[in-house]
Amino acid sequence: MKILLTGGAGYIGSHTAVELDAAGFEVVIADNFSNSSPIVLERLETITGKRFPLYEIDVADKTALRRVFEENEIGAVIHFAGYKAVGESVSIPLSYYRNNIDSTLSLMEVMAEFGCKNLVFSSSATVYGNRAKLPFDEEAKTGPCTNPYGWTKLFIEQIITDYAKANGDFSSVLLRYFNPVGAHESGLIGEDPKDVPNNLMPYIARVAVGTLPFLSVYGNDYPTPDGTGVRDYIHVTDLAKGHVAAVKYVLEKKGNEIFNLGTGKGISVLEMVKAYSEACGHEVGYKIAPRRPGDIAECYANAEKAEKILGWKVELGLSEMCRDSWNWQSKNPEGYK
Ligand code: UD1
Repeated sequence: MKILLTGGAGYIGSHTAVELDAAGFEVVIADNFSNSSPIVLERLETITGKRFPLYEIDVADKTALRRVFEENEIGAVIHFAGYKAVGESVSIPLSYYRNNIDSTLSLMEVMAEFGCKNLVFSSSATVYGNRAKLPFDEEAKTGPCTNPYGWTKLFIEQIITDYAKANGDFSSVLLRYFNPVGAHESGLIGEDPKDVPNNLMPYIARVAVGTLPFLSVYGNDYPTPDGTGVRDYIHVTDLAKGHVAAVKYVLEKKGNEIFNLGTGKGISVLEMVKAYSEACGHEVGYKIAPRRPGDIAECYANAEKAEKILGWKVELGLSEMCRDSWNWQSKNPEGYK
């Protein structure tokens, strides 16, 4: 069975390609490399022994997308493609709304034309409003989002939900990721932010490898055990396996379901710095800095629903997340360049 991965050359898409292949699915990738590298395809070939078919297209381009469906019998789609930089989304909101929403509508219209009725969507824990109670379960209140990127995720969730309601034979899963980190154990694929990273683990990785001088810890006066922000970091390989479980689910069941993909465990910034220092064998330098606007003190999942219904649960812990991130970063100090 062929599974189309939009944005399949990206960080989460590429790791999911490996796990889908291991589970016996055929992978087809559509990516325009706007935030990823063609080298990923070579690396995936080294890991899996397979050259996955690649369509270098913009998913919003329906004519180009039709060719993918004409040439392949696609059983299900995992829709990863989208802009994802929170800060940038605040500066250029229209680009975010246009790109993320347009590509989803085009994809779903083309899927309908070709009778493809199974969709898994990359959503985010960012859709939970600040007023939701921790740990966030799937019933928790969503919105208001703090930035346009988050709103695009929430709007797309609504679009898919409405479509599934109107089409009883359509099957969709919305996956709300917590904080994906780490890399494939081979060190061949990993996260490769284009500019200075915004997120914690890739920033720490750059400090550890020596391309950035120190980490700014954004606030140590939060109401958390050590005062620094707490998040639910999840190994990208566990996250990828969650997608395999979600694909199996949409192929078997009809309707629209939401699942958190997280560990259920909160880790503070300073705990992360300590674990990374152990993994890389030297201290990761940091300085306490003011809070980052828009940040919340704590965010972690209730991950029971995915375990109960998808039969998925995390296997890798903080030390593996740091070990594999360091393995990737030290082998590829400049990413895919
Ligand atoms: C961020 C996004 C979220 C997105 C997620 C993807 C914001 C406000 N939110 O979440 O929408 O879905 O990434 O993974 O950007 N930290 C530092 N120093 C740094 C970077 C981060 O101390 O240089 C701290 C943050 O204050 C936070 C924690 O590390 O407490 C995690 O930050 P980050 O990796 O950016 O993720 P989120 O803020 O959870």
